[in-house]
Amino acid sequence: MRLVLLGAPGAGKGTQAEPMSRELGAVHISSGDLFREAVRQGTELGRQVKSYIDRGALVPDEITVRMVMERISAPDASKGFILDGFPRTLEQARALDAALAQHGISLDGVVYINVSPEELQRRLGGRWICRRCQAVYHEVYSPPKISGRCDRCGGELYQREDDKAQTVKKRIDVYSRETAPLIAYYREADKLIEIDGEQDIDRVRRDITAALKNCKRT
Ligand code: AP5
Ligand code: MG
Ligand code: ZN
Repeated sequence: MRLVLLGAPGAGKGTQAEPMSRELGAVHISSGDLFREAVRQGTELGRQVKSYIDRGALVPDEITVRMVMERISAPDASKGFILDGFPRTLEQARALDAALAQHGISLDGVVYINVSPEELQRRLGGRWICRRCQAVYHEVYSPPKISGRCDRCGGELYQREDDKAQTVKKRIDVYSRETAPLIAYYREADKLIEIDGEQDIDRVRRDITAALKNCKRT
């Protein structure tokens, strides 16, 4: 399946992409993870995008579209993909539609995880991420078994630079202005699957699985 996970910062895109990717046998492609990896490795791309990410602004469409399209073209993505954090502007959404259309394919669905702004702040303030495998934890909602260590790989957990309260506010503003219009865009295209993201992690996962079963049947 070819899916997009749409939702505000902290909505649970990364959290849900992991089990979905395993269940569906589709690769998880997170634009944010790709950017952060480029920054970590100090590549040319990393140098270009670091300042945008640190201040909670969007990376320019041209750079983002090129990077994600390259990733989608890799052989492992031919079985299907789950896009997490892309597209984030109307221009990116149109570029994605056009690129898929060139190959005679299209998105199967866009899973929109709906969460209120107050809850987003709570989630991002307590988030911890594994440096090695990118697994996502929360100090209250989904704590690791050993504090500071990843359950899955034993890697060190860290807090993202852009999860500081001020930057989170900025990211939520940017989302409302630039990304929220995609909800109407995909609803009009009859691709939108809306999920109540304000339930616990397992319930959200169950709702997504159920919604995708219906989506496959059509
Ligand atoms: P990116 O990495 O995509 O960040 P984001 O969209 O801000 O989203 P997050 O990763 O913060 O949230 P999430 O929805 O994945 O939540 P998570 O599952 O971790 O982008 C970072 C930056 O890169 C951008 O600001 C921009 O600069 C750049 N960028 C990336 N893509 C771009 C693009 N397309 N165009 C331009 N620039 C781009 O969950 C959050 C927390 O909540 C965790 O602690 C988790 O344990 C907890 N949690 C999750 N679900 C639940 C639940 N149901 N109940 C309780 N807690 C929960
Ligand atoms: Mg994420
Ligand atoms: Zn790990």
